[in-house]
Amino acid sequence: MSQIRGRFRKAADKTAAAYTASISFDQRLYVEDIAGSIAHARMLGKQGIISPEEAETIVKCLQEIKDEIEQGKFRFRTELEDIHMSIEARLVEKVGEAGGKLHTARSRNDQVALDMRLYTKKVIAETLLRLKGLQQALVEVAETNRDVVMPGYTHLQRAQPVLLAHHLLAYFEMLQRDADRFGDCLKRADVMPLGSGALAGVAHDIDRDFVAKELGFSSVSRNSMDAVADRDFILEYEAAASICMMHLSRLAEEIILWSSAEFDFIELDDAYATGSSIMPQKKNPDIAELSRGKTGRVYGNLMALLTTMKGLPLAYNRDMQEDKEGFFDTVDTLLSTLEVFAGMVKTLRIKPEKMRQALDKGYLLATDLADYLVKKGAAFRLSHGIVGKLVSYALSKGISLGELSLDEYRRFSPLFADDVHEITAEASMAARNAKGGTAPEQVVQALAEARKTLEMPRRRKKASI
Ligand code: ARG
Repeated sequence: MSQIRGRFRKAADKTAAAYTASISFDQRLYVEDIAGSIAHARMLGKQGIISPEEAETIVKCLQEIKDEIEQGKFRFRTELEDIHMSIEARLVEKVGEAGGKLHTARSRNDQVALDMRLYTKKVIAETLLRLKGLQQALVEVAETNRDVVMPGYTHLQRAQPVLLAHHLLAYFEMLQRDADRFGDCLKRADVMPLGSGALAGVAHDIDRDFVAKELGFSSVSRNSMDAVADRDFILEYEAAASICMMHLSRLAEEIILWSSAEFDFIELDDAYATGSSIMPQKKNPDIAELSRGKTGRVYGNLMALLTTMKGLPLAYNRDMQEDKEGFFDTVDTLLSTLEVFAGMVKTLRIKPEKMRQALDKGYLLATDLADYLVKKGAAFRLSHGIVGKLVSYALSKGISLGELSLDEYRRFSPLFADDVHEITAEASMAARNAKGGTAPEQVVQALAEARKTLEMPRRRKKASI
């Protein structure tokens, strides 16, 4: 820190230094910090702001520092406060005075904004890959179980028969919207802030477009004060991550329910389940539960940063250093959740016979019976009432609707005829054949479309780091 304490007469108090230091967590930005510095040094050399030889030496040493970090030879020191100062200090140590020239036409304010944007772009690319991995797993399970029928629920009450594939593809859609949201976030993260200086711009003949090109950015920021004070791109990632975790948490909840003895629709693979320390019979869905729990953390990180940012006057304020830990935590949580979910979903054992049994016991064809009467000329409200009475009758006898005789049916309405026994789960699903419905024809089509979406390469920004 001594490099920047010229105007002080004392060293920082130990507790003050520890309180302000971010090196323990921002060291993960070393790749981005070094890439940004290399591009900056090249630009300074090209523009004659430093000599080409100095630029070359700086670039070479920065590459060596990267190796040192990767080989675990670099010592991060709290006194050096953050990743920017740590790398610069080591550079000066290695090359002497020329190292001190790297920070010409730059401030840590635009430097940290650059690092965070580079990092965000990198993690968005990884997030998209992992989203795709989970989508692939869902499509695989849907395809191998294409004919499996299950009860669809509303209010967690058995409602109408649906294909399991249809149910799983609902999650495919959610994740596709998540991917779109991250893709959108990428567009706004893809703006190069270096050259904004501390806040007002820099008083040197710099070439910002050159730096942007070197680092794979599509454009440069238009306002220096905004560029150093903006963390919207992190908030957007955290917001998209929150929505995505909410989706994963809903899937987790279904996996938890479905693997309970009460539902018994699926069994988790041993590799994705945990045992109980006391009850030997237990097979617990801990991964699903943890992901449901971790969703709270991801929401919390979003709320924390929104709150941090809301009172800040322009431009940079140190409060903004608080963007990092929550963001890194969100990234780690989301990426690991997506990865483990892909494995957990892919290895689920589906129990088609149990799903079918739940269907038979659930009076799920009641709506179809009402529709049947409507087609025979009854008003829907009337037929709704008739079928309600039928269900109550069947319930009192402890049998399913399919087990009622035609005579029994006709006791409730003379409109019932022989063809009432043609109302089956299969017929019920096949009838829902408008786009987006659970009819097998539609689901086959939806699966093909999902496959096509997965095969489409996402437009990926070239990053040169
Ligand atoms: N560690 C700081 C952060 O993360 C870097 C920027 C420091 N700038 C400053 N003017 N103190 O925000």
